[in-house]
Amino acid sequence: MVIERAPLEDELGDVLDKAIRRSGLAENEVADRSDIAAERLQRVIDYTERLQPTELKRVLQVLGLTEAGVVAVASEAYPLPEISGLPFCLYPLRMTHGIGVANAYLIADCSAEWGILFDTGTGAEGLWRSWPTKLKRVAAVFLTHYETEHCGGLTAGRERFPNVPVFGPGGAERPMGVVTLLDGAVVDEQGFRITVRSTPGHAEGHHCYEVEVPAAPHGRGLVVSGDLFFAGSIGGAYFCARRLDESLGKIFAQSDGDAVVAPGHGPLTTIENERRLNPFIV
Ligand SMILES: [Fe+2]
Repeated sequence: MVIERAPLEDELGDVLDKAIRRSGLAENEVADRSDIAAERLQRVIDYTERLQPTELKRVLQVLGLTEAGVVAVASEAYPLPEISGLPFCLYPLRMTHGIGVANAYLIADCSAEWGILFDTGTGAEGLWRSWPTKLKRVAAVFLTHYETEHCGGLTAGRERFPNVPVFGPGGAERPMGVVTLLDGAVVDEQGFRITVRSTPGHAEGHHCYEVEVPAAPHGRGLVVSGDLFFAGSIGGAYFCARRLDESLGKIFAQSDGDAVVAPGHGPLTTIENERRLNPFIV
């Protein structure tokens, strides 16, 4: 099964749940400060109850979420931009993961058999099922972080493409043989320039990758965002909420609005779209 369109990774309840985690407040405290019953807030997170607009506004204020963003997510019609105009081919490799979708990506010169792989997906089955037949070889692999739905296919990838360099963040979870890249490192490969942005927060070791084509200096760029942020949401702050906020601030300050965003879950988006609509980006 080829997944043509990925749904948003998070709906309203998930957004509230992540925002509570990020705030460092207990759920009771958030309910208290928002002047609603704690059980009610829990039912909203579990999708069994809805808040009145005035109540929702109070919760958003406590959690520092933008109202326009939350309304967009809650509308179940989150606007997504048309993705075109990249000076290369981008192949999303979408794989089912729980009730959602995990993504790996291939980029390539559209006439080439060579590709560069970002993350390796949930495992061999998901990876090969979504693999474009046209791409026969891989020049390099870049990993965003080491959760299994993002590097589960690493062994299978190495078997099919032996001796391919694999790059990623440092940390105790780094699989054997993965070469650590530090913040700001630049790798030139197959006509692409890949710049490393260290973005801890969701995980201690987490990278975003900016992709440019030096031969097309005015071409649209790409940001592979891993689980730092998605269309309409962010990754859970499992390592550190403060560092996650810093990492978001850094990427949104450094990236062109025009850049396409290829997240670890959910659909493609752009920096500009998320600046405008993502409830966590202010
Ligand atoms: Fe993930």
